[in-house]
This record gives sequence, C-alpha cells and structure tokens, in this order.
Amino acid sequence: MSVKIFDRPETKSFLETVSGLDKAGGNPRVKQVVHRILSDLYKAIDDLNVTPDEYWTAIAWLNEIGASGQAGLISPGLGLDHFLDERLDAIDDALGIKNETPRTIEGPLYVAGAPVSTGYARLDDGTDENGHTLIMHGTVFKADGTPFAGATVEVWHCDTRGFYSHFDPTGKQAPFNMRRTIIADENGRYKFQSIVPHGYGVPPGSPTEQLLSALGRHGQRPAHIHFFVSGADHRKLTTQINIAGDPLVNDDFAYATRDGLVPDVVERSDEASIKANNLKGPFAEITFDIHLTPLVNGVDNQINEQRKRAAA
Ligand code: DHB
Ligand code: FE
Repeated sequence: MSVKIFDRPETKSFLETVSGLDKAGGNPRVKQVVHRILSDLYKAIDDLNVTPDEYWTAIAWLNEIGASGQAGLISPGLGLDHFLDERLDAIDDALGIKNETPRTIEGPLYVAGAPVSTGYARLDDGTDENGHTLIMHGTVFKADGTPFAGATVEVWHCDTRGFYSHFDPTGKQAPFNMRRTIIADENGRYKFQSIVPHGYGVPPGSPTEQLLSALGRHGQRPAHIHFFVSGADHRKLTTQINIAGDPLVNDDFAYATRDGLVPDVVERSDEASIKANNLKGPFAEITFDIHLTPLVNGVDNQINEQRKRAAA
C-alpha cells in the first residue's frame, strides 16, 4: 500500500518543530540545514514508499559506519568530496582564479606531523620488498609564476599492498612510513625518493564496501600520491597525482582523477641516471610542477580546518 503524507500541513509544521524553527535558541544555520535535509529525507521516504525494514537497515548501516570510523571513507565513494571540489572550482571560476595545478580530494588518510626536511626526502624505509624505486621532483611556483623557495610540500602514499602507515591493518609499517614534509629549496624545487605505490581498496567486508557492492560498484582506487602544498600569502592546495598506466586511472571509486594530474612515468635504466640519483638499479621518474594560487582578499577562502585529521 502506497500512501502520501508529506504534503499534509501537519507534516510541514512537524518538520519545523523537529528542526527547532519554532524556538529562539540554538544555532540558526544548523536549524536551516537540518530542516532542509530532514525535509528531503521525509519526502524521499514518502515518494519511494520506504518500508520500516529498509529504514532500520539504513540506521544499522549508519551505526556500523560510525563504529568503524568510516564516514570519511564512504564520503568520497559517494562523490561528495569530488562535488565539494567542483564547487570550489566554480567559486574560483566566478572569482577569475585559474588553478593551473588542479585540486582534488584529500581522502581520509592524512596524518599530521610527518618528518620535515629541505629540498629532498626519502619517503619509504626500504622494507617494502615489492617496491619499484620512484624518484619524483618538480618546482613549486607562486601565483606570479616565479619559483616558490620555502613552499611546504606534504606528501603521503600507500605501499605495494595498498596500505597506508598509521592505518595498516597488519601493523607492519613504522610511523610516518611514506609520509614526509619537504620544504622547497632556494629554487622552489622539491624532490623525493620512494617506491611506486599500488592501488588502494576499501577494507574488505566493511560497511563502506557493503554499500558500494549494493550499488554494483567496486571500492578500488588507482595508484596515487597525495599532496598538500602551501606557502606564505598563497592558498593551500590539496591534490593528488595518479600513476599513469594504472588500469583504474579512469575508474576511481573516489572520483579523484582529473586532467593534469596524471604525469608521465618515465622508466630509467641507464647508468648515468642511476648514478645521478645515487641508486643501485632502474627506477621510475615523475616530474611534476605545482602552481599555487593567491589569497582572496588576504585569506585562504578554501581552508577546511574543521576537518578531523589524525595526529600521530
Ligand atoms: C579513500 C582512500 C584513499 O586513499 C583516498 O585517497 C581516498 C579515499 C577511502 O577509503 O575512501
Ligand atoms: Fe589515498
């Protein structure tokens, strides 16, 4: 039996009561947002004839997502992180700001407090036996196009099993493995040695995976490397590069792939290149320059400091 009660005046006034709109106290913005989201939800329940069993299945799933700390994992999977990026792009378009290096999602696996060095860092501790050596480097540029000496390049990525340090279910990795902060040198250059990461998958059997499966989707990401890049009088850039050639480059469950963020990976096996990088054998090389954008009226209009991030 399908019934419709959303349009009743009683429902409308009930939604206002539930959202506190008939009271003076509380936070007006929270009231506004809760009222809108609850209204959309009530209407969806009514329109789709959602059964109590379906409703309570959803509540149990929400409890599981919360208990496993996976709200930040399913959020990109549902495209919300990418949608927020598209909105920031649209705001920048309206302001006339060009993002020469595109932004893309942060993901849920950043950890604050990585070791800091100037110009160069080794990211991996050498224990990932399947790792293929990676040399990645480039120049950070200011909004005026000049090299950005002293810019901060925070970089993090996973190992060849797709596990990040601090979130490794096997407990195998040392703290801050494959996480570093590099201060760009006097020419604005950064460089690091690490291993080429492999793709990442959401935890098997997790509530995140359960929902994706119910949508007929996978929970895999192509191999990628995360960056926060910042510097005085510029906006902080959150971005990632994908490893070119990964079969999932255009099939990312988190929708982070963007034009301009899939740099070439060049295999080097000649002696001169190997020696120049103090290596013992062949390696992969990625060159990637990063362009920052200016503050807007003196402030970073995109900063999201309220986001909860792990501190070591
Ligand atoms: C997820 C994991 C990542 O490594 C990432 O970059 C983005 C999202 C996730 O599990 O949702
Ligand atoms: Fe990631």
